[in-house]
Amino acid sequence: MKEYAVSPDLMSADHIECPYRLYQDLHRGSGVAEDAAVGVVVAGYQDLVALSRRTELYSNSITSDGKGPRHMGVSQEPIQADVEEILSHAHPVVNALFTADPPVHARHRKLISTALSPRRVRSLEPAIRQIANDLVDSFIESGEVDLLPRFAIPLPVTVISDVLGVDRADMATFKHWGDMMIAGNIDVLNHDQRREVAHAVVAFHAYFVPRIEERRIRPVNDLLSDMTNAETEGEGKLSTAELLPIISQILLAGHETTTNLIGNAIMVLLRDAALMARLRERPELIEAFVEEMLRYDPPIQCTYRRVTTTATLRGVPLKPGQMVVPLWAAAGWDPSVFPNPETFDIGRANVRQHMGFGYGPHFCAGAELARVEARVAFETLLGRLDDIELDERASDLQHLPSFASHGYRRLVLRFRKKALAS
Ligand code: HEM
Repeated sequence: MKEYAVSPDLMSADHIECPYRLYQDLHRGSGVAEDAAVGVVVAGYQDLVALSRRTELYSNSITSDGKGPRHMGVSQEPIQADVEEILSHAHPVVNALFTADPPVHARHRKLISTALSPRRVRSLEPAIRQIANDLVDSFIESGEVDLLPRFAIPLPVTVISDVLGVDRADMATFKHWGDMMIAGNIDVLNHDQRREVAHAVVAFHAYFVPRIEERRIRPVNDLLSDMTNAETEGEGKLSTAELLPIISQILLAGHETTTNLIGNAIMVLLRDAALMARLRERPELIEAFVEEMLRYDPPIQCTYRRVTTTATLRGVPLKPGQMVVPLWAAAGWDPSVFPNPETFDIGRANVRQHMGFGYGPHFCAGAELARVEARVAFETLLGRLDDIELDERASDLQHLPSFASHGYRRLVLRFRKKALAS
């Protein structure tokens, strides 16, 4: 195979704006390359399948100091003393669910799969539709909307708050913690950012520890009670040190992702009037549209793994402790699996093979919830708003300053309220 030297530099402004040319370059070569700042990136579909299964070599416990997930960013820089001081006020945590490897992961996964079962997700659809309609009610008379803060952010945040049993009055704070901890999971943080994230972690723990304790004594009908009181065979209940990171993962994974999926998807429709018209005429195609979005321009571009022993991958040496970056979004652009990946085609027969939700044991536990949220979001927007246009001057089409989390900064839409069918 011809070697194609690609220097990925994931954090460069060009790649944050548009990672897809980089993926095409990687696919023309071996699909594996080294980013000096972050680690070894993996783009090829089959390599990602293999990587996801080799949990003994590619560990999800990306912190290895025994202190569990600390949200201090993905660089290898030691944590500064003043940041450690702030973190000393946090509750102890252990690696759990997303940052756990087998066999611990399997225990947590079983619990979360029950808590977010397809049956529970189906039962949530009417409530999700109600939240989407209430949000549209709040702006429909004005003929314009700042889509992210008025719709795409509050929709999943309200859903996940309700599911977890968090008071709606606390949602803004909840959203702030989510943003902080996401950055701490997937971005390179400087010192000031680390301080800010550390404060958010401490506040998040101070909020949830008493609520966990309360639900141990008096369970109510919410996911927090379910997870607090569920027992796995022979292993008893989850400890607070396990529950806190699991709750934070649900919070984090459960909102920014769906927000950016909605934002990325509306931009595809604004650039393709024929497709928008087709989805209005045949809303049953929205489901396929959402799947193709998850292949074509997904909100999560990558996650991370840590190498456990010396190995090589397509000729690139791997050292223990080194980060490996599974580029899930690049899998959707692998031409050996998705011919003409640059073409947006809601008729792709194999679209559900995309890796927008990852692959293997850590495949997104909220995938069904996210699918329902995105489908209901577009059924509601297209069902109630006509002549949707982008207000280019008021919008900011630059992407958020993160490689892993991929979404626009500001999308302002103008529209006409749809006349009610008589
Ligand atoms: C469009 C929306 C979403 C996208 C694109 C997305 C994507 C992903 C990806 C790529 C992974 C990691 C795969 C890996 O590294 O192996 C993941 C894991 C996860 N996601 Fe999602 N996600 C979304 C929505 C959600 C929602 C709504 C929830 C929860 C309510 C959720 C909960 C989780 C959890 C708990 C994990 C860790 C699972 C494990 O380690 O076993 N996600 N997601």
